[in-house]
Amino acid sequence: MANTRPKVLLTRQLPEVAIEKLEANVDLEIFPYDHKITPEELKENIQDKEGLLCLLTDTIDSKLMDVAPSLKVVSNYAVGYNNIDIAAATERNIVVTNTPDVLTETTADMTFGLMLMTARRVLEAGNLLRSGNWKGWSPMQFMGTDIHGSTLGIIGMGRIGKALTKRARGFDMEVIYWNRTRLSVREEKQLGLRYVKFNEVLLQSDFLSLNVAYNKDTHHLIDEAALQKMKQSAFFINTSRGGTIDEEALLEALENNKIAGAGLDVFENEPNINPRFFNLKNTVILPHIASASVATREKMAMVAVDNLLAVLAGKKPKYQVV
Ligand code: DGY
Repeated sequence: MANTRPKVLLTRQLPEVAIEKLEANVDLEIFPYDHKITPEELKENIQDKEGLLCLLTDTIDSKLMDVAPSLKVVSNYAVGYNNIDIAAATERNIVVTNTPDVLTETTADMTFGLMLMTARRVLEAGNLLRSGNWKGWSPMQFMGTDIHGSTLGIIGMGRIGKALTKRARGFDMEVIYWNRTRLSVREEKQLGLRYVKFNEVLLQSDFLSLNVAYNKDTHHLIDEAALQKMKQSAFFINTSRGGTIDEEALLEALENNKIAGAGLDVFENEPNINPRFFNLKNTVILPHIASASVATREKMAMVAVDNLLAVLAGKKPKYQVV
């Protein structure tokens, strides 16, 4: 009997539960290597596929779509979808889906963790201990900055911004925010938030967290002028996308102690990190792991699979982009 199951390309191994569900429903091809699929490899493997389950590191542009005339759905294994040309997909009636909600709390945990790590100099202190050179408790050693009682500024009040707010309230922080669209006064009250102008978030925050989606409007949203407005004692935290901040300007500010430090999970040209970041004592850098808990990555995989299968079955997926 001819195989009538839709052909699907998956660009990297995912948690086993997701693979099992895919294999039960589609004719699955998994890119066999544990490295980012190149544009050439993608082109070669996509041509006869109806479905693509891809990663945030895969560039899905119009050129790729043009070699895949049967493509119906691009299911991104991420909430962010700046790696996909949405206009090109819309023109070609290709549905694009993503994986919000399931990673919100895990990402907010890590965002808060970065605040603690930078303000309390956790890595610096731990590294001294590991080096074998710790000489014992000392009154002035590794003095950091308190988080409790300080002001957290959040730029971008979506799901993750709100989840971060809940954590901040547990630390008695004042939370101010700026968002393109202001929340209702009722929701602000419920969350314990104060809305301020963009410049005021920069000026008033002791911790500034960037939680916006990355697109042409948010490219280098934090630039040299924005950094100059921040308090010299303030910390900058980013778990969104590297492109939301002008890295040159950030490096300059950190190297010259114009701000107190930064906690960064994302970079503009991942995985090529500007080596100047490696020398900064006041900065914690992580390899884009904010959503990387076992439970959350499994949930993301299942959401991505369910989105893909829904479209291939002619149904509306739970999370369709635009
Ligand atoms: C996303 O989903 O966009 C995160 O950056 C990775 O989980």
